[in-house]
This record gives sequence, C-alpha cells and structure tokens, in this order.
Amino acid sequence: MGCGYIGRRIARLLPAERYRVTGCVRSDESAAALSAAGIDVLQADLDAGLSPASVSEFDELYYLAPPPRSGDADTRMATVLQALNSHRLRRIVYISTSAVYGDCRGAWITEAQALAPTSGRGRRRLDAERQLTAWCEQQGVQWTVLRVPGIYGPGKLPLARLEQGLPVLREADAPYTNRIHGDDLAMICVAAMQSPACNTVFNVSDGHPSNMTDYFFRVADAAGLPRPPTVARAEAEQVLSQGMLSFLADSRRMKNDKLLDQLGVSLMYPDLEAGLDGCFRD
Ligand SMILES: NC(=O)c1ccc[n+]([C@@H]2O[C@H](COP(=O)([O-])OP(=O)(O)OC[C@H]3O[C@@H](n4cnc5c(N)ncnc54)[C@H](OP(=O)(O)O)[C@@H]3O)[C@@H](O)[C@H]2O)c1
Repeated sequence: MGCGYIGRRIARLLPAERYRVTGCVRSDESAAALSAAGIDVLQADLDAGLSPASVSEFDELYYLAPPPRSGDADTRMATVLQALNSHRLRRIVYISTSAVYGDCRGAWITEAQALAPTSGRGRRRLDAERQLTAWCEQQGVQWTVLRVPGIYGPGKLPLARLEQGLPVLREADAPYTNRIHGDDLAMICVAAMQSPACNTVFNVSDGHPSNMTDYFFRVADAAGLPRPPTVARAEAEQVLSQGMLSFLADSRRMKNDKLLDQLGVSLMYPDLEAGLDGCFRD
C-alpha cells in the first residue's frame, strides 16, 4: 500500500516463486514504473476511497503510504482499514516515523519514550499507528510498527538542494538526526513481516545519529559538491522553508538495540560512511 522507493525494494526481496506482489500507487507514472518492474499494479487514490474487492487477496500488507499533508488524522489509513474489514490478513507492517516522539532535546531514546509529536506530520503518524493497532487487535491481525527516521540511499540524497547552495543551520544549533539506508529499511520490513516477534514497535535507525548539518556536509563531500552555507537559528526562521524548519524542531538520538536483538537483522550500512560510499560507486 504505497509502492515507491521502499516498496519497490521490498518487492525485489520477495522471491517470485513464493510471492505474488501487488503494489498500490496513485499516479499513472508510478503505475507504469511498477509494471515495467514486473509488479502487479493496484492503481487507487486513497483520498478517494478503496474498493474491498481490490484488496481481497492480500495476505501480508506492507503499509508504506504517507498520511495526507494536513489535519491531525490519517484518513488514508482509515480508508484502507475499512476496505480490509471483511478480509483475513496475516500481518501488517507499517512504516511510521520517529516524529511521533517529538522533541527529546537530544536524548538517546528507546521505544519506551513518551509519544509527544510537535508537528502535524507527527500527529498524523501517531493517529495512523493508533488506528492500525486498534483495528488489528480487534480483527486478530498481527501488526508491526517501524518508527523510521530519515531515509537515504541512491537517488534519495539532497543533491538538488546542495546544487542550489541553499543554507543549513550552523552546526552549533543543529539538532540530532537519525538515518537508515533504503536497502536496509526494505530488508528490515521483510524481516518484520517474517519474524516471530510481532504486535510490537521497533525503532529503525543505523544507530549512528549525527546532526543535520553534518549530514549535509558529508553528502556534499561524497558528491563532490561545495558544502552549503550555514546560518544561525534566528536567521534560519527567515530563510529556510517551513518543511525544513519542521525537521529542525526536534532533536533525538534513536537506539536500535531492540531492532538488532529481536528482529535479528544485520545492517548492510551501519553508518553514513558505508551508506554514502555505495551511493556513488556505480
Ligand atoms: N523520506 C524519509 O526520510 C521518510 C522518513 C520516515 C518515513 N517515511 C515514510 O516511509 C514511507 C515509504 O517511503 P518511500 O520513500 O518509499 O515513499 P515514496 O517513494 O514517496 O512512496 C510512497 C508511495 O505512496 C503512494 N501514495 C501516496 N499517496 C497516495 C494516495 N493518496 N493514494 C495511493 N497511493 C499513494 C505513492 O504513489 P504515487 O507515486 O503514485 O503518488 C508512492 O507509491 C512513506 O510513507 C514515507 O512518508 C519517509
């Protein structure tokens, strides 16, 4: 449900002799890309509704579609759960975000951290988590929630921003930020679908947080681009977009011990250095 960057990577990990994969997308362009990749397409706009018949053969669901851009509720999640009402799914793996924790003032956090989203983005994700877990408990469907921070990987780096020379916060003011490589995230989604551990939440991160400015500097260095100019926080309010500012409002460092211990995954890209190296090798 929402088959883009991560969904297509998940599909590639599922052997064709054991799985028939259907990807739900909204646009004609994404539908054509899925078909070209040999993935069955369910084309639907979750803001317009979803027919129960279109999802009647689903057995395992990776829910990867984002909530709408406004409001405090994830109406798309409500639409999907309603369509699934009369079916018997085995498990749903849901990609949520670490924004549900809100600002933790740079503290190291586990899955036990209180949920206090500061942004609409975080509140909609928390609403989605709550809808999903309540529905699954009621229906007897297994669930796993993955709280995911910044996703990076080939084709998913802020290169356009760096090429434009847009400013970033100076390092002294920059919040902690966490990351996961897209290939690791796809592998984690499949592990979460197959693991005996379910009906639980996992923080997903490579375990090596740094500050946001350090991230931009290191991507620039790896890409051979100039490092972006920096501004103090007071000036940032004037020159950075609202979207960027919302990412700078929260600071936290995510522990990934539960992910490594209970899902038993071994990360291919355990830090940014390893991940960026692979992004520019081809
Ligand atoms: N980027 C990050 O750093 C980050 C961090 C944490 C969590 N996440 C979340 O992780 C999930 C997977 O990420 P991703 O990179 O794979 O995202 P993506 O490439 O943007 O894919 C999202 C998919 O959802 C579909 N979709 C969006 N709105 C829809 C609607 N109204 N109806 C039906 N389908 C809809 C899109 O279809 P179309 O292409 O046709 O629109 C696309 O296939 C997303 O929910 C994302 O928000 C991202």
